[in-house]
Formats: sequence, structure tokens, C-alpha cells
Amino acid sequence: MRFLLVQIFYYVLVTEYIQATGLKWVRVNVPQYRSPGESAQLLCDYDLGNDTLYSIKWYKDHEEFYRFVPMARPQATSYKMEGIFVDMGLSDRKKVVLRTVNLKSSGLYRCEVSAEAPSFSSAQSEARMEVVYLPKEDPVITGVELQYQIGDEINLNCTSGKSHPAPVLHWYINEQQVASPEALIYYPQVQHRHGLMSVTLGLKFSLSSRHFLGGSMRVKCVASVSPVLWKGDSESVVESLAVKDMREALLLVRSSGYKVETLPGIFLILIPALLLCARLNLN
Ligand SMILES: *[C@@H]1O[C@H](CO)[C@@H](O)[C@H](O)[C@H]1NC(C)=O
Ligand SMILES: *[C@@H]1O[C@H](CO)[C@@H](O)[C@H](O)[C@H]1NC(C)=O
Repeated sequence: MRFLLVQIFYYVLVTEYIQATGLKWVRVNVPQYRSPGESAQLLCDYDLGNDTLYSIKWYKDHEEFYRFVPMARPQATSYKMEGIFVDMGLSDRKKVVLRTVNLKSSGLYRCEVSAEAPSFSSAQSEARMEVVYLPKEDPVITGVELQYQIGDEINLNCTSGKSHPAPVLHWYINEQQVASPEALIYYPQVQHRHGLMSVTLGLKFSLSSRHFLGGSMRVKCVASVSPVLWKGDSESVVESLAVKDMREALLLVRSSGYKVETLPGIFLILIPALLLCARLNLN
């Protein structure tokens, strides 16, 4: 009995000792965002301790696409997968280079390191990469009439450029975001080729003199793309402003008279002018 206890104790000690000197940690370094057509370098850093490397395996969304086994011939192998084009010349036991990424390359990348006998230990680390296509065009405001009278219903559409993920649109009247649900009309997203999407948001309100500040009213539509918001298993929301693209379209409606407030009900000609398209790129 005493002998058995000693044996167990010895066993536990030795196991812990081996683990402490073997594979210690694995860490991936994956770019968070990439644009279609760019290359992406995925790094897998690890400390084998006294262990010898048996294999490095890379997975995208739990499916293996690259393997490096020092004892195998050839040492490196890649497996066909949509959105994955491994540059075999630049990839090795520490990194994988994806040649030209596309929207299908977005996903969760995992590197798994395994040690040779006798420890056979393995460890892994993972990170997400999003391929983001920012819109090339400004949003467009349509439905503009040549003239409006106080009391008229204003009925506009704002349509974004194509992007991935889909842009988010907001309307502003005199720099105040329109939040009231009766004023906004949501239309379904439109799917385009290559996974790109565009959206349209309608704005409907009845024109009143209080909309005119100093004789004019500014109606603005802002489209923004912020690739964020993926929910991990346990983690809530990983938000990052590393990429945020904002584009806007502005509509300036001028009153023909100076004192709009004093002319309710009187025929009033307002001249809308599509003024400027500004681009804001926050990096
Ligand atoms: C691990 O490696 C170190 C230095 O390379 C050596 O001193 C040590 O004895 C090794 N330990 C084992 C358990 O092999
Ligand atoms: C806004 O767009 C929707 C969907 O394309 C269309 O059905 C609607 O007639 C448009 N409204 C205006 C005012 O242009």
C-alpha cells in the first residue's frame, strides 16, 4: 500500500515536470481586416519547450487547409477550400500566407501545434479575420421634387453604394438624426454579385416651418460600414473601430422667402439643391 502511494506520487510529479518543459503556449497573429485582393499573413507563434515539433495544422472555421509536418515529404500540404489560396513558397512552420483574399476568406483561423513522442501534447489558438469591401460610391438621395410647400410631404430615398458587410444608413435633418419610426421606411437589402450588398432607407415627413433654420433645411444621409460585431461563443461583442468608413449625401433645401415662419400656408417655392458629397474616412 505504501509502495503504491509512492508510485502515484512519483507519477504525478514526473508528468507535471514533463508538461512544464514541453509545449508551453501557442499564439496566432491574424490581421483583423483585409480588403479583397490583398494578401494576408497568418502567424503562428509557439514555444515547444523541450518538445520536438510533430505538426502544425491550420483550420478555417474548423476545416483544415494547411499542414506542416517536418518528418513528412513534402513537409507542407495545403487543402482546397473556398476563399483560401495558400502561397506555398512563403508559408512554413511559423506562418501561412494567403495570396489574394476575397469575401469568402472571412472566418475563424486556428493554428494547432502538436509535439512528437513522448509528450504528444498539443495546443491551439484562434482569431478572426474579416474581409471587408468598402463602398466606392457615396449614397444617393432620390425622390427630390423641384419645389415644396409648407405642409407638403417630403418623400426621399437614400441608397448606399455596394459593400460588404452591408452599410448602415442614417438620416439627419439639420444635423439631428431622425429617430422616429414613422419617418423611416426600411427596404430589404439588395444582394449584388460577389457577396456585395446595398441598402435603401426612406425618409417621410411633412414639411413645416420649424424645419427651416435661417431660411434653409439640411437633409443628410450618412452611410457607414463598420465590420464588427461577431459574437463569440461566450464573449458578447467584440467591437473595434479599426475600420470605419463613412460617406454622406447632403440635400440643402432653401426657402425662396426670407421669413419662412411668417408665411404659413402661403404658396412657397423651395429650391432643393443637391449640394455636396463628402467622404469621411476614420481610421
Ligand atoms: C530541457 O532543456 C534544457 C535546456 O535545453 C535542459 O537543461 C533540460 O535538462 C531539459 N529538460 C528535460 C526534462 O529534458
Ligand atoms: C424608394 O425605394 C423603394 C424601393 O426601391 C421604392 O419602392 C420607392 O418607390 C422609392 N420611393 C421614392 C420616393 O423614390
